[in-house]
Amino acid sequence: MQISRRNFFRTTLSATAIGAVSMAANALPFPMEAFGEPRRDFWPDPQAAPATGGPVLLNSNENPYGPWPSLKEKMRAALELGHRYPDAQYEQLTAKIAELHRVKDEQVMLACGSSEILRVSAELFCGPGKTLVQASPTFESLGHYAQMRGATVRAVRVNDKYEHDLQKMLPAGEEKVGLVYICNPNNPTASITPRKAIEAYVKTLPQDTYVLIDEAYHHFALSSPDYVSFLDQPVNDPRIIVARTFSKIYGLAGIRLGYAVAAPETAKKMRAFSSYDNVNIVAAKCGIAALNDASGLAAAIKRTEADRAEFINQANKRKIAIVPSQGNFVMIETGKPVRQVIDYFKSKNVMIGRPFPPLDTHARVTLGTPPEMQAFWKALDGMGRASRSSS
Ligand SMILES: Cc1ncc(COP(=O)(O)O)c(C=O)c1O
Repeated sequence: MQISRRNFFRTTLSATAIGAVSMAANALPFPMEAFGEPRRDFWPDPQAAPATGGPVLLNSNENPYGPWPSLKEKMRAALELGHRYPDAQYEQLTAKIAELHRVKDEQVMLACGSSEILRVSAELFCGPGKTLVQASPTFESLGHYAQMRGATVRAVRVNDKYEHDLQKMLPAGEEKVGLVYICNPNNPTASITPRKAIEAYVKTLPQDTYVLIDEAYHHFALSSPDYVSFLDQPVNDPRIIVARTFSKIYGLAGIRLGYAVAAPETAKKMRAFSSYDNVNIVAAKCGIAALNDASGLAAAIKRTEADRAEFINQANKRKIAIVPSQGNFVMIETGKPVRQVIDYFKSKNVMIGRPFPPLDTHARVTLGTPPEMQAFWKALDGMGRASRSSS
């Protein structure tokens, strides 16, 4: 089935029974409020960076180099189509994603960023009487959406290797687990949970428990032998939903594009909860161009791996403990309350990640361009001196 704007709408209408319980979505506050931080503090005007004296943005796991040249070109061209609804492009992008992952078109749900996949999953699988099980710490928005739906959120601390502690994530007692969230690699730790362990875990879950595997950072983990994507090597299990985004490796965070792949019935239910025309024409065109540019992708992966190696190098030189990273960001042990560290960096015009309790002395640092990282290390070295002189 082609997922056109018209038959997509038909799917939506046929799902009115499910739609009846979705009204709580109207009450969602802006997700950043769930992160416990005022948006302004963490999202200074990006236009100000990286101009001299502008803030260095190492706080949102974005691609600091921006969209690849081939994508910028397509983006500009797509603006000319701004007066048209994105029907054709919607179908083309859906087909492209389906082809990439060797699935049927109807297994794909396009989204306004993978955030929409998280929200829709909460709508469908979480609700009063249900529990969402996730890691602690992990990316916060799904937990927030689930709470807004009236579900219980059980957050299980990552183990000492910063992997999901899967044994502890099994349903406990009478708990009705509607959804398990596995963020792999995990944000904020950039650590991975081995594929084999996830597969074994899923097999032991009740038949009505769905599993959302968030592969937002997939491309940064490819060099790890323990990491295998659930899209590249699917398991035949209708309870698994895999989410991907164009916000990270493709440098399109501001364009808002993501998708999920799931069993046809699951994907159909999910599409029923998405907004009509949730992917705009520029985003759809960019997505198609991104997936057509294999050499752009390879170059972006290589560059991030080099930036990450350099970060590790610099951290080792300074004997700073880090969580082994399979992402475009690294968690460092600062030995100080993280809020103090964040504020210190902010005073140096370097924005780093928000606090991620319960890791109270770890700071999440997104990999920036070499000049941005120089600014980071310079500030960090200054912090060492500041703390030595005050002790
Ligand atoms: C793990 C994870 N999932 C999902 C998202 C949401 O990304 P987007 O909505 O831009 O696709 C993020 C954003 O940082 C993330 O870190």
